[in-house]
Amino acid sequence: MAALSTNGSGQRFAGQTALVTGAGGGIGGAIIARLKAEGACVVATDLSLRDGQTDADHVITGDLIDPAFADGLPSAVQKMTGRLDILCNNAGIIARGEITQASDDDLRRSLAINVEAPFRLSRSAIPIMAAQGGGAIVNTASCWGLQPGPSHPIYVMTKAALASLTQCLGRDHAHQGIRVNAVCPNEVNTAMLRSGFEIRGLDPQAGIAALNQSVPLGRIAEPEDIADVVAFLASDDARYMVGALLEVNGGKPVG
Ligand SMILES: NC(=O)c1ccc[n+]([C@@H]2O[C@H](COP(=O)([O-])OP(=O)(O)OC[C@H]3O[C@@H](n4cnc5c(N)ncnc54)[C@H](O)[C@@H]3O)[C@@H](O)[C@H]2O)c1
Repeated sequence: MAALSTNGSGQRFAGQTALVTGAGGGIGGAIIARLKAEGACVVATDLSLRDGQTDADHVITGDLIDPAFADGLPSAVQKMTGRLDILCNNAGIIARGEITQASDDDLRRSLAINVEAPFRLSRSAIPIMAAQGGGAIVNTASCWGLQPGPSHPIYVMTKAALASLTQCLGRDHAHQGIRVNAVCPNEVNTAMLRSGFEIRGLDPQAGIAALNQSVPLGRIAEPEDIADVVAFLASDDARYMVGALLEVNGGKPVG
């Protein structure tokens, strides 16, 4: 059996810098903890982060809807830490309801945060990574981007776009040593999921208990279940993986 790839340090990300968006959220927080535990220097970004809310080494706050902010983040990270090896495009929002309930603002914001920001961040990060000899981009897409779930047309199309961008960039930039892959979770126990119950006036804990019954593994994902796969894709253990859309679903297909 091959040993995990750790560059002899015992830590897969020693000497590497990672930028993680959506750092204040459930999955973002877990990604940061995993990357840090394995030696990465992590730069966290979100709209705002309270003192003590993140374990990251550096914090850059800002709104990913702002094109100049998104465009400038990778070079800001490089200036701050000297490198950029891993980009986790993880921030996302979910607009709920059928198309007739969707506002222009829902559409604009979802496209800007879920699609345009990963586009801008990747476009700025790739030349930096290429000059360093390689890197890894890991996008947080969704099972719903591969097979649409019901009543969320804006969300599913933005996640499908992110999945497609992942495959395209994976192919285009492999020759530069840059691997672009995505994790595609089904339901994960975070504020995003719980908000769906709250909006419908339901108790989130009861809702999650009911959802757990629908998953063959017996429970919906915890953020760490997703973060471990993100870390795998970011690491040299996934050195031959390019443009992959990895479903992490506990055996539950989109129904
Ligand atoms: N929770 C799930 O069931 C689930 C399933 C599949 C995919 N995902 C995806 O996982 C990713 C992380 O989601 P989560 O479940 O941790 O949700 P979350 O709501 O806990 O975290 C999302 C984070 O993104 C940040 N964000 C939103 N708009 C922003 C903006 N304009 N600028 C900067 N940051 C912004 C939020 O502040 C928040 O901290 C998202 O892309 C989501 O679509 C989640």
